Amino acid sequence: MRKNGNAELIEKISKQKNKRNAIILVHNYQLGEVQDIADFAGDSLELSQKAAQTDAEVIVFCGVHFMAETASILCPDKTVLLPDVHAGCPMADMITADALRKKKMGHPNAKVICYVNSPAEVKAESDICCTSANSIKIVEGLKDAKELIFVPDQYLGYYTATKTARDMILWPGYCPTHARIQAQDIIRLRNECPQAKVVVHPECRPEVIDLADEVASTSGICRYARRDDVQELIVGTEMGIIHRLRKENPGKRFIPISEQAICPNMKLITLEKIMWSLEEMAPEVKVPEGIRLRAKAAVDRMLETS
Ligand code: 13P
Ligand code: SF4
Repeated sequence: MRKNGNAELIEKISKQKNKRNAIILVHNYQLGEVQDIADFAGDSLELSQKAAQTDAEVIVFCGVHFMAETASILCPDKTVLLPDVHAGCPMADMITADALRKKKMGHPNAKVICYVNSPAEVKAESDICCTSANSIKIVEGLKDAKELIFVPDQYLGYYTATKTARDMILWPGYCPTHARIQAQDIIRLRNECPQAKVVVHPECRPEVIDLADEVASTSGICRYARRDDVQELIVGTEMGIIHRLRKENPGKRFIPISEQAICPNMKLITLEKIMWSLEEMAPEVKVPEGIRLRAKAAVDRMLETS
């Protein structure tokens, strides 16, 4: 343990933040100590909405690369810092703009819905973006489209297709962290805690989703946990969310379905790296203008619909 715990470091971050006119945006999967210094913590949709609205000159994005890219797409005049440049998303890396272009050639009339967990170049090739919080609404808004391609998450795509009764061409991407959440563990935990409700993220496999009482984005999970009829909750998503759930709901019990569901990329961001990034104003994430403008059209369509 550091002398004075993290207090000294937090003080330094606060001073640098004021000096730089910065805001610290934090995803719900970040380390607890990073969540605790957030100006705003939330899911991907809320974080992109916050980035679009802020007056700050600098955004310190405590999340993964595609999230910082989305902030840069929306705020080209701001400096967007990602405190560890290696914090990527393996699911986002399961698709490239070239591969999507080839797919589109085989389906010239299809509309492309792109989960925000994707590179900016892929967003630039898409008609509209979505997050786990609004995918159903986005697909419902595409009534006139004859064909739909959903990229890159096959499980969010499958869940959305089921909920909207639409056929969709699904890209075979997935989240390796959510793939660790298994149906058999829900069955075991339901037996051990019969009073508990079960909530899971839509990146989970279909057989996991089928066993849940509620399916929601990370902030949707936090809202569900605040309900009076929820006292014990079995949670199927990345472990980092447990910190926020326990902090916001003292007295309630939260049981992760899998303690193996840890996204190593999310955990790369630390208090030290946040301080260094504010001192050095690096690493900066900036999307080239040609790609940014096309990607922004897809992100803007999503934000208008949300
Ligand atoms: P949310 O948009 O629900 O926060 O999810 C982002 C993510 O990366 C889930 O793995
Ligand atoms: Fe990507 Fe999965 Fe990590 Fe979310 S939890 S950032 S989808 S690897």
